[in-house]
Amino acid sequence: MTIRVLTGIKPTGTPHLGNYVGAIRPAIAASLLPGMESYYFLADYHALSGSADAQRVHRSTLEVAATWLALGLDPARVYFYRQSDLPEVTELTWLLSCVTAKGLLNRAHAYKAAVDANIAAGNDADHGIGMGLYLYPVLMAADILLFNAHRVPVGRDQIQHIEIARDLAQRFNHLHGGDYFTLPEAAVEEHTAVLPGLDGRKMSKSYDNVIPLWGSSKTLRDAIYSVVTNSQLPGEAKDPDDSALFLLYKAFASVEQTAALRQAYADGIAWGEAKRIVHQHIDAELAPSRERYQALIARPQDIEQTLREGAQRLRPKARALLDALREAVGLRSLARLALPVAAAAKTAKKAKLPRFVQFKDGDGRLNFKFMSAEGELLLTGIGYADAKASASAMAGLRASSTLTTRGDELLGSDEVIGRLEVADGQVEQTMARLLAALAELNAAEAAA
Ligand code: TRP
Repeated sequence: MTIRVLTGIKPTGTPHLGNYVGAIRPAIAASLLPGMESYYFLADYHALSGSADAQRVHRSTLEVAATWLALGLDPARVYFYRQSDLPEVTELTWLLSCVTAKGLLNRAHAYKAAVDANIAAGNDADHGIGMGLYLYPVLMAADILLFNAHRVPVGRDQIQHIEIARDLAQRFNHLHGGDYFTLPEAAVEEHTAVLPGLDGRKMSKSYDNVIPLWGSSKTLRDAIYSVVTNSQLPGEAKDPDDSALFLLYKAFASVEQTAALRQAYADGIAWGEAKRIVHQHIDAELAPSRERYQALIARPQDIEQTLREGAQRLRPKARALLDALREAVGLRSLARLALPVAAAAKTAKKAKLPRFVQFKDGDGRLNFKFMSAEGELLLTGIGYADAKASASAMAGLRASSTLTTRGDELLGSDEVIGRLEVADGQVEQTMARLLAALAELNAAEAAA
């Protein structure tokens, strides 16, 4: 089975070295592993929840996209897209909102922190809090569930959001009686370095102590030379574990190189010399991608194209899921309710359900047919060795969330699992009726 890995990147600022070491570098390394289907996207809707600064979102989207591409994310190997290019994301957000307990969102960390801050300041609890912040976890669940991601690499602060996504997936599956959504898992990298900033605290925009990723060699040099050190003189032994400069180096250097600098500290290296080594090393690692970054950022129209193509490739998947979900929640074609009045009265008395009928085919193999509640033949199975295989095929069909078609063949996870009985020459319509009938059967059984 292919593992689907998905992560979103909020375009809210200019990338710094801490983002690179803590998130971008490990994620790009992971994107090169075999056996994964990776989804990386710019969470630009999320960026709107904290700010009304249009210029900043616009500019940052370009910078963040160029950063990932410059550092080696390959859009031919992964899905690389922009959240707002997929209308299905907002559509799903609403469907999920309707199964979200308000109390669940009251307990979300970011919202709670904002409420606590208001109360501490003597304000109304919800002072200045927008629905964007409040619904943030639901939008994020939509990102994840839209592609049935198995694994979501995130920082610790995001674990609760993945738990909320699991909750909503489970609740929707339960309420609508089907395996519509896969339950995602958070993947938290325990070993990534926390990079110190200029003042020695964790590098973060909120501390204003960051080193930008894409400055020139000269600005990088100036930043590294301004990292805090102490007043120890050349020749005095220095403590590497209490040195932001050393930790910075360690995040970029090999084990041997790190050991060599540790020794140099013990031997009393001068701060100026240590800074020179650290700058030279980091600069050498960044120089090639810095050039690619400059080339990319000079051609925003190409990046626009790349992102649009990424979303375009995903639209059919997203649409197929939303079509099934719309069926499940009751947003269905009215044409299917057009029964003759007498027949409608009869069905009202004893509501019929879609059903499976098993039979032996010419070769003595067991097979099944699936019919709508109205008795329309929708699907024939592919023939099975015994009753157990046939039963498991029927159960698999009912639980599948990955049904697609190829001509009149029905595919589940790329394998032929049946043949659609296309009466009117229109595969899509028959497929829609099949999905509706499956959903109807599942829902009726869940209700019973
Ligand atoms: N909330 C995430 C962050 O701030 C960004 C994000 C949005 C995300 N949607 C996502 C991450 C889906 C993982 C999966 O970092």
